[in-house]
Amino acid sequence: HAEIRVLGIETSCDETAAAVVSWVPGCGPLIRSNIVLSQIGEHAAFGGVVPEIAARAHVEALDGVIGAALAEAETTLGEVDAIAATAGPGLIGGLLVGLMTAKALAAAGGKPLVAVNHLEGHALSARLLERLGFPYLMLLVSGGHTQIVLVKGPGDYERWASTIDDALGEAFDKTAKLLGLPYPGGPNVERVAAGGDASRFDLPRPLKGEARLDFSFSGLKTAVRQAATAIAPLGEGDVADIAASFQRAIVETLDDRVGRSLQRFRERFPDAAQPALVVAGGVAANAAIREALENLCRRNGFTFLAPPPELCTDNAAMIAWAAIERLRAGIDPAEDPMLTAPRSR
Ligand code: KG4
Ligand code: ZN
Repeated sequence: HAEIRVLGIETSCDETAAAVVSWVPGCGPLIRSNIVLSQIGEHAAFGGVVPEIAARAHVEALDGVIGAALAEAETTLGEVDAIAATAGPGLIGGLLVGLMTAKALAAAGGKPLVAVNHLEGHALSARLLERLGFPYLMLLVSGGHTQIVLVKGPGDYERWASTIDDALGEAFDKTAKLLGLPYPGGPNVERVAAGGDASRFDLPRPLKGEARLDFSFSGLKTAVRQAATAIAPLGEGDVADIAASFQRAIVETLDDRVGRSLQRFRERFPDAAQPALVVAGGVAANAAIREALENLCRRNGFTFLAPPPELCTDNAAMIAWAAIERLRAGIDPAEDPMLTAPRSR
């Protein structure tokens, strides 16, 4: 078995990304390059990602980003073994740009094209850096997704929980908007929350204590709006107090909801030697949330793994790596990744 080297492409949302990752027998994975070009500046004025603008920006940027990924990896298209691209879920315009580019490169170079489910990319990314065996639990918390997935192997997943309304990142972004904080909201809510009184507002902890594993955040968002309207106009201290109260409600909700999945994992795999929870997605950058999850895992005897931000948020290294995992597992590159990976929501 020789080295497997893959060029990965990710264009499902507002980052144009390309990366070269290889797997070397006896050595493991190696990230040769990981280039991410964020479009945040192009969408900020609109307070969110505009699909049409995103697709056009991918068209303009992708060739250059791929060139940069190959150059930084000191490799050429001729030297890669396969081309991988995100096939979904995501914004259709951007997905088509990435997938059609990958298809053209694969056809021109006579290489296999590996279509990758974005969620499978997130699910397997922790194995890029850590020795982590199957099965394990993954909590994905981003602007578009909030779910807990049992990861049994490449192409082998069970979705245990998802949000029944808003994604967690969306709840952060909407709260930020309401408080007059700039886009993207999550980091700004965290920043102002640090100076606020988290006990001032009594906000709900949606679904807390319920046996089902799902999440819900729209009720919390509504409660934040009501709290804000009741004391408008908001002073700087009010904004900080609402942000802090909101963040505490999130932390306590996650503790309850994720804790239930950890218990379920214990029941399902009583003999698991080292159960683990991996967190992925942009919201995982939040220090209060990380700390809460770390504590939760410690109390339950789980290993807690939070890949660094450049692998946690959207990137192409995770797409190239998921392709390598699929190839090594003997999955036919032509197989539809949307059938075997966790479904979107
Ligand atoms: O994974 P990501 O970069 O993109 C996708 O949504 O796929 O996640 C972006 C989301 C946004 O909703 C953003 O507000 C949120 O992650 N986020 C945060 C923090 N940093 C980013 N939420 C809370 N606290 C943060 N520090
Ligand atoms: Zn993502």
